[in-house]
Amino acid sequence: MKPVKIGILGLGTVGGGVVNVLQRNASEIARRAGRGIQVTHASVRNLSKKRLCSTAGIVLSERPMDVVNNSDLEIVVELIGGTTRARELVLKAIANGKHVVTANKALIALHGNEIFEEAQKQGVIVAFEAAVAGGIPIIKAIREGLSGNRINWLAGIINGTTNFILTEMREKGREFNDVLKEAQALGYAEADPTFDVEGIDAAHKLTILTAIAFGVPLNFDAAYTEGITKIDREDVQYAEQFGYRIKHLGFARCSSKGVEIRVHPTLIPQSRLIANVNGVMNAVVVNGDAVGSTLFYGAGAGSEPTASSVVSDLVDVVRSLTVDPENRVPHLAFQPDAIHQKSKFLAIEEIETGFYLRMKANDQTGVLAKIATILSEAGISIDAVSQKPPMVENAKQNTIAILTHRVQEQQMNLAIKRIENLPEIIGKLTRIRVENLI
Ligand code: NDP
Ligand code: HSE
Repeated sequence: MKPVKIGILGLGTVGGGVVNVLQRNASEIARRAGRGIQVTHASVRNLSKKRLCSTAGIVLSERPMDVVNNSDLEIVVELIGGTTRARELVLKAIANGKHVVTANKALIALHGNEIFEEAQKQGVIVAFEAAVAGGIPIIKAIREGLSGNRINWLAGIINGTTNFILTEMREKGREFNDVLKEAQALGYAEADPTFDVEGIDAAHKLTILTAIAFGVPLNFDAAYTEGITKIDREDVQYAEQFGYRIKHLGFARCSSKGVEIRVHPTLIPQSRLIANVNGVMNAVVVNGDAVGSTLFYGAGAGSEPTASSVVSDLVDVVRSLTVDPENRVPHLAFQPDAIHQKSKFLAIEEIETGFYLRMKANDQTGVLAKIATILSEAGISIDAVSQKPPMVENAKQNTIAILTHRVQEQQMNLAIKRIENLPEIIGKLTRIRVENLI
């Protein structure tokens, strides 16, 4: 059988990796797909840039639309990133009847509903395994491997850059900006790295996981997002003392109250496997009613780990070329007419978590009692307290750290306001949410 001809838009970190993997593993891939997969065309921004891969035998162009409009190509792989040009190109490829593979989580999270509708009309596949957690086949696992379950919740370290930064800061005491620069040099970070450190990239990925886990529409606007820039070394130390570790976690749950989607620094018990996922590695825990908790682990970013997912999508598409569109695995795991379009998404104030609170207080008798009274009046139960003596002898301030049991965020907000108004409390409280993941 003739090989399937494909075109790649973008030959950067991921595009270069895809060409390398397709070339190196060509015969193994053909054995799996039933046909060879041949990159015949690709587009880049700058033709004279040095590439990670050989471009021998590939027609290179600076005009991605030429690739999308090339009638010899059956599959277009979008690895440009961004949401404007990428959206135009993907929609045009679909309109031209081509299957699409993309690693672009921003595109899927923001425009996926539209893209999948168009793909459905045209009877083509849009595959996006690489969009979430790099090399971990988490989309396939949820969409197919766990399809017998009602999924209760999922939690993931789904941004390699931030996990790399937090790990290097904790283990080696390195500075934030220094580690971020290294993550950029290694090809982990997004074109705009604020997407990584402010949690936007993780929220894009979590939006996708939420849709395929619960059968709800992609709704990036419903995601609560908080980055890692305000994490203090002191909090890392207190967390350790309480038996926890701070991770930048994406968490989604579907309950009778509604759907929650949130990305924020989170204290997780050190004993959980996911608390020990370090560096650029990612991990996702999925809790289903039948299977219980399952953990998926692997490299979350980088050239070839991401290429691994793109190429497995290519193999899947090639295997499905002869399958009738209505018999294919649905894009978002649930049949399009069975997606709960009217699902309620919860605001962060409506969500329940445990809390870690850290505050500075004047070293006076009765402060702790006043704080405990405020928490108790708000119905908030204390789990653990640590009061550090003043660092300097005769100093007048000390630090209090408290862990609470679960409480609704709006109740905690009121209590925090009251504590901050105590005359003995200095400045603002630090608050980090706690999840025990059981
Ligand atoms: P790069 O910046 O390394 O590569 C982007 C490629 O697209 C380059 O070849 C660039 O051309 C080309 N390009 C960029 N803008 C345009 C444009 N406007 N028109 C035409 N071509 C353009 O990005 P990555 O490979 O890192 O990321 C690609 C996608 O994969 C993104 O959506 C990203 O979020 C996603 N992703 C990345 C991962 C990673 O670890 N890096 C992991 C998982 C997903 P030129 O080379 O000439 O500049
Ligand atoms: N910037 C992303 C990360 C790339 O660091 O996780 C992988 O999606």
